[in-house]
Amino acid sequence: MDKNVASFPGLLLKAGKIKEQFYLTIKELILNGQLKAGSKLPSSRTFSEMMSISRNSVLSGLERLIDEGYLITKKGSGTYVTSFIPDDGIQIQSLSPHKKNNNEQGTRDITPNMKIMKNIWDATSPHAGNNMKFNIGIGCTDLFPYELWGRLLGRVWRQFRHQDWKLNEPLGYKPLRSAISEYVRTTRGLHCTDEQILIVNGTQQAMNLAAQVLLQKGDEVCLDEPGYDGALGAFTSMGAKIRPVISDNNGMDISYAMQHWPEAKMVFTSPSHQFPLGGTLSLARRMALLEWAADNNMWIFEDDYNSEFRYTAQPIQALQGLDRHQRVIYAGTFSKMMFPGFHLGFLVIPENLVESFKIAKYYADSRTSFLEQTILATFISEGHYARHVRRVRKACHERQRVIIEAIQRYLPEIICAEPSDSGIHIVCWLSGKMSESLMIEHCRKAGLGAQPLSRYCQTKPEKEAILLGFAAHSPSEIVEGIKALAQRLVQ
Ligand SMILES: Cc1ncc(COP(=O)(O)O)c(C=O)c1O
Repeated sequence: MDKNVASFPGLLLKAGKIKEQFYLTIKELILNGQLKAGSKLPSSRTFSEMMSISRNSVLSGLERLIDEGYLITKKGSGTYVTSFIPDDGIQIQSLSPHKKNNNEQGTRDITPNMKIMKNIWDATSPHAGNNMKFNIGIGCTDLFPYELWGRLLGRVWRQFRHQDWKLNEPLGYKPLRSAISEYVRTTRGLHCTDEQILIVNGTQQAMNLAAQVLLQKGDEVCLDEPGYDGALGAFTSMGAKIRPVISDNNGMDISYAMQHWPEAKMVFTSPSHQFPLGGTLSLARRMALLEWAADNNMWIFEDDYNSEFRYTAQPIQALQGLDRHQRVIYAGTFSKMMFPGFHLGFLVIPENLVESFKIAKYYADSRTSFLEQTILATFISEGHYARHVRRVRKACHERQRVIIEAIQRYLPEIICAEPSDSGIHIVCWLSGKMSESLMIEHCRKAGLGAQPLSRYCQTKPEKEAILLGFAAHSPSEIVEGIKALAQRLVQ
């Protein structure tokens, strides 16, 4: 071989389609400096033999690298690495040899709060098990009226250019705010006017805004233990100190919180369905919490994320509706009732805080996107939302019954699961026969996105459990999933 030609000892292809792999491999060698500017490449035939791939794959990869300016051809001489590298550091970052250094530098440069967030992210692995059966937090995706939504979308789109854009204020699209305010007054017993509604991109943004407006570095925030990791991330990212409060079947233990954290500035809780255990905050505890908040100028962040998935009776009145001192920030979300990725929610804000929240929202992202808001406003005001909720509630109740029965039938010795009045996941307590980590390993191998209870705990839980989301699957899929797990366990 020509001694001027670059050599490639032990060259390994990257994962993916062959021509893509070849392209990426050579590009990486150029960007990380292993293939120097001006060096001559072997012929396509030599590459093809050296790497045992087709010549077409090589030619296609080389052509792309030439088009993108990494390589040049010199007539009658061959192909060379250009002396000018076209891409900036963004691409370099995505390539493995540099990744480590960049990560180290990235960790050094970020703020202490970001480091805390990273630790929470690493400890809770929020994306583990996504896209698998029985993952939690997903509603009845199969029952969503996609066609109707499509028709409403078409209608809204046809009128789009005639819409009054000014109606989409930083607080949200006015007709949607009116539709929501009416809906929550009638179904959730809230006391509010349209002016108190702020449209957000889900509860996660709602918590961040609340923290920005109401908390200072070092303020204490009480959170259920076990509790919502999204809240842990949002509040610690603003420098708050999280104070865990034990929870049981009646939700957060308010007297424990008052006794242990008397200086708390905020309590975050989900009274109608404690996350993740599912308890409903008893009336006595609700009243005690409201009184504590009023006496101490403390805020209550009421996360009402699952209130509409209630099966045995009417939804329980929200804390906000019982509050006479404007201490409750109420958050509702459409993430569960609509479809994953929908990501619209709302806050009901005490009157005297509306202006501050509006400003915080404005500087966060100016406002929430117009199109989804307009469709949702129509969906609610024409009564489709209420109908959808009724349908979903009925189906979820049935799906919960089916998963409990399947567990009792196929995994009686290993898991104990009780029906719950509400929610879209069940808590599966493990008998001493199997550890939580081993159970999660079996679940993943059976294609199940179950979540370990410990993910939501700041201290080791007394009893181990996994959570199974059931709402997104038909009864037969549920039975199949539980059977698949049972079969894995006997292997
Ligand atoms: C406890 C809890 N609150 C709220 C939400 C909804 O969050 P978002 O509206 O950001 O999707 C979730 C989602 O899984 C949740 O588990």
